[in-house]
Amino acid sequence: MKLPFAESWKIKMVEPLRMSTREEREQWIKEADYNLFQLKSDQVYIDCLTDSGTGAMSDRQWAAMMMGDESYAGSASFFQLKDTITKITGFEYVIPTHQGRAAENVLFSHLVTAGAIVPGNSHFDTTKGHIESRKAFAVDCTVDEAKDTQLEVPFKGNVDPKKLEKVLAENADKVPFIIVTITNNTAGGQPVSMQNLREVRAIADKYGKRVIFDSARFVENSYFIRTREEGYADKSIKEICKEMFSYADGMTMSSKKDGLVNMGGFIATRHEDWYEGAKKFCIPFEGFLTYGGMNGRDMAALAVGLDENTELETIETRIRQVQYLAAKLDEYGIPYQRPVGGHAIFVDADRVLDQVPKEEFPAQTLAIELYIEAGVRGCEIGYILADRDPVTRENRFGGLDLLRLCIARRVYTNNHMDVIAAALKNVYDRRHEITRGVKIVWETELMRHFTVKLERL
Ligand code: F0G
Repeated sequence: MKLPFAESWKIKMVEPLRMSTREEREQWIKEADYNLFQLKSDQVYIDCLTDSGTGAMSDRQWAAMMMGDESYAGSASFFQLKDTITKITGFEYVIPTHQGRAAENVLFSHLVTAGAIVPGNSHFDTTKGHIESRKAFAVDCTVDEAKDTQLEVPFKGNVDPKKLEKVLAENADKVPFIIVTITNNTAGGQPVSMQNLREVRAIADKYGKRVIFDSARFVENSYFIRTREEGYADKSIKEICKEMFSYADGMTMSSKKDGLVNMGGFIATRHEDWYEGAKKFCIPFEGFLTYGGMNGRDMAALAVGLDENTELETIETRIRQVQYLAAKLDEYGIPYQRPVGGHAIFVDADRVLDQVPKEEFPAQTLAIELYIEAGVRGCEIGYILADRDPVTRENRFGGLDLLRLCIARRVYTNNHMDVIAAALKNVYDRRHEITRGVKIVWETELMRHFTVKLERL
């Protein structure tokens, strides 16, 4: 008999979970103004809000923390981190930051000015925020396939070369760089193929432009290249990462995802001028260049985390758990962005709650129902997160309306996956009874989803 696939680790420390009653959850979510970000974590049973900073570190990472060097300048932990990043990416210049959006803030302060146009594939909301807050424009050039959740194509996160070329042909002088998000979080944790990265590079070269990878989940991306793209099945994850980054000029990184740490980020680049430009903003915003908002011990743990996650067995364990949950949803007929991506299931809320009008935010409504059902906390990646159009101030209903269920790295077991799937099935089975959603009663101008206040209709 073929032995089944199992986790590449065993558990050394556990943390109790708190269960609750439906009555308690109904009360708590009301007190939270129907915004799941406003819940207290002990009001949540299984937390699928994000895979960002929620993972479990390994024994090697905890051991590295004890060896962290907290020197203000020239910390040994910084050099360990820098060497690891250079080994994996080939980028020589590294600036640590306290998280991914801080890397965006520092680098974009140098590169993005009013009126600039930054093409990419579904810019993440903080990335979009850091572009739009500088009175510049983020132009989404994602392939159209990403909009059809039921279409099975292997690299739904890709940049559409034709759309990209059009932006450059019309506005090359306004484009400071192209940004490719690997994996494409907003489109469903969908990967970008090596072939596509090569095409983007060729277009960039044609117009003399540079390319940044928003690399929060670059290891997941390389795993999908290994398993889905011809010619990579025998390559190591580290070899694939090296080739991916060979097509970029630099990267912004949220280390809270594929860095396997709870906090941290960095900028890395092969260009001295970008490094010199970003340096000027790192010092006032983040701190001196050899810590940039991070503890020495956190840089030490990140160095180990990056090395560990770019080994096949670690990343395979991670992706296979997400695929396990997806297979359960297939069994129950629940529609999600197919094929499942790297870090989460993105349930197609428009299809599940097809009686709730767009204006009443179906994905947010589904998130509330799932929380009340079982204490599972997901996150709306849809019309609320899309914010309003900066010019017309209208809600943006043009994209997908998804309920994202993120899987934290090395945290939950497949039994928890079974609970998530069963809870979702229970909501799905009574979907026809859910006809009304929510309305916004208070919101901020940018990144409103974190603090928005809602009322149930
Ligand atoms: N880029 C991508 C693709 C991201 O997914 C995130 C964060 C960031 C940049 C910003 O990084 O949080 O360290 O400042 N994504 C989290 C999420 C918050 O839940 O998807 P950060």
